[in-house]
Amino acid sequence: MSRLTVFEECSPAAPVLVTEDAAAMAAELARIGVAFQRWESPVTPPADAEPEVILEAYRPYLDRLMGETGAGSADVIKLTPDHPSAPALREKFLNEHIHTEDEIRFFVHGSGHFVMHVDGRVYDALCTAGDLIAVPANIRHWFDAGPAPSFTALRVFTDTSGWVAHFTGDDISARFPVA
Ligand SMILES: [Fe+2]
Repeated sequence: MSRLTVFEECSPAAPVLVTEDAAAMAAELARIGVAFQRWESPVTPPADAEPEVILEAYRPYLDRLMGETGAGSADVIKLTPDHPSAPALREKFLNEHIHTEDEIRFFVHGSGHFVMHVDGRVYDALCTAGDLIAVPANIRHWFDAGPAPSFTALRVFTDTSGWVAHFTGDDISARFPVA
């Protein structure tokens, strides 16, 4: 189940808020400019569906989102525990970083943690199938799907150069290992 856990940055062992309520998650994340939505597709494509089938299933949501954000493109990323690049990909986004454009993801299957670091607080959003999250440009964050990542996600973007991670050099993510 999706879950938001909020900490003061100096107290990794003592969350100040834990909620699995989607509306409460959305409200709390909205305070830091992060959008969180649940998308209910009439039909959830199987995990092995072709990218075109997955994109088509969520087309009405994608069109609306692109209209709202101005993002122009979407694609599908799939990661499985046996993927040879899984450890390297995990390492890549595990340290705190920012991007020059919004990081917008929708989980079709599986799960992953987006962890935002804003105004002295850490917001660990465990996203699961049916969740959309949009992390604005320049918000400090990291991503972790654990040592055996398993997810299929839509990426919504304007320019793939915005995916480049600019690392902050802060080792805070090491103090907030995801469950
Ligand atoms: Fe990122």
